[in-house]
Amino acid sequence: MKAYIKRLPKQFRDLLYLAGKLASQKGMNVYLVGGCVRDLILGAPNLDLDIVVQPECPNFTSELAARLNARMVVHQRFKTATLITPRKIKLDIATARSEIYPQPASLPVVIPAGIKEDLARRDFTINALAIDLLPDNFGGLVDFYNGRQDLEKKLIRILHDSSFIDDPTRIIRAVRFEQRLKFKIEPYSLELLKDASGAGMLNQVSPHRLRDELMLILKEEGASRHILRLNTLAGLDFIHSKCELPRKNLIYLSQIEKEISSFRSMFPKRRALDTWLMYLTALLANLSKEEIKKFSRRFGLRKGEEKRVISFKKFSPSAVLKLTRKNVPVGEIYKILEPLSFEVILLIKAKYGKKTLRLNIENYLRHHNGIRLYASGNDLNKLGLLPGAYYKRILNQLLHLQLEGKISSRRAALSWIRRFKCPRN
Ligand code: CTP
Repeated sequence: MKAYIKRLPKQFRDLLYLAGKLASQKGMNVYLVGGCVRDLILGAPNLDLDIVVQPECPNFTSELAARLNARMVVHQRFKTATLITPRKIKLDIATARSEIYPQPASLPVVIPAGIKEDLARRDFTINALAIDLLPDNFGGLVDFYNGRQDLEKKLIRILHDSSFIDDPTRIIRAVRFEQRLKFKIEPYSLELLKDASGAGMLNQVSPHRLRDELMLILKEEGASRHILRLNTLAGLDFIHSKCELPRKNLIYLSQIEKEISSFRSMFPKRRALDTWLMYLTALLANLSKEEIKKFSRRFGLRKGEEKRVISFKKFSPSAVLKLTRKNVPVGEIYKILEPLSFEVILLIKAKYGKKTLRLNIENYLRHHNGIRLYASGNDLNKLGLLPGAYYKRILNQLLHLQLEGKISSRRAALSWIRRFKCPRN
């Protein structure tokens, strides 16, 4: 067994070995490809297993699924399949293919091919490496395009001159890998990247593909660095003509990054943040509400995502005015912040860094967000209060007393409720 594949956990290796054994019985070839190979060589964790088989064999996937007792999802449109094992290991399977782009930036026409052509159609040399999975050569590196050398030299290099024209999303991908891996875009590739972005190639990509690629770059650790570099190399017009990065926004972006990491360390158990949406909201700051709506439709944002972008626009100015005052009652802070998502609250904190505002928000997040009442309408009923609209008022008062720390247990809440005298049945 060769060195790189040994770096995978045993259960992943065993699964790949089984795929190799089955392919060999069928007289086929099978390879591990893509980002997983790149990261195995770099020693970075990546358990996204992509395999390529050659030639096409409709039974291979279903037989492998049966042997692994895995669930199989077939993606007819792309002629690929995903297997999910009982231990939740995911394996993506495709048939080796080469691609022809009928027009720049269009989806390619796919034709069956050998592994060499399959690797040649890929974005960068470092992503065009494969590992042989056949038992005879299990773990053997397949490196037609000097990907390993570029990994050593820390270079992002395209495989052919029209790469950025055929698939302009690679402009964003080049920046993403360059920044993530702390590599350099190789000079000739950089020249071609600038030519393609100068020719407005990103504007020719369908908005949904742009959104997917944009989401990936905005999800990276240290996304502000990525955005800055993307802005330098390609501009941000492809997102929206009103997207810009003045100096003020740069400070804002890195502040967002700080807020995200302090939120994660302070509240590790709260739901994961949609960090990409926070950066996107910042980039869309110059758009009106109507423009945001139009953008959301074009990019296919979900309703909940659009709502958060708009709610930042709509509520942040008034929230800031109120939250920067000293001695704002906790009940009022709660009323302002409770309807807002974590993303919007943290964006407000990042953008308007006044000390009082920050303290008010931190206090709310630590002590009051999602506070649970010590008593419910049911309790009021059980304590003999006839149901009516005033229930809401009582519970609201209870909430305020809890927020102010004047009631801090269920027992105290119930004895406070008992003081109410109301009509009985
Ligand atoms: N690929 C490509 N051109 C694209 C997208 C993908 O050539 N526009 C190829 C690359 O070989 C890439 C592989 O498809 O390695 C898998 O794509 P993806 O999962 O997006 O990339 P990864 O390299 O796995 O990146 P990440 O680590 O971010 O998941």
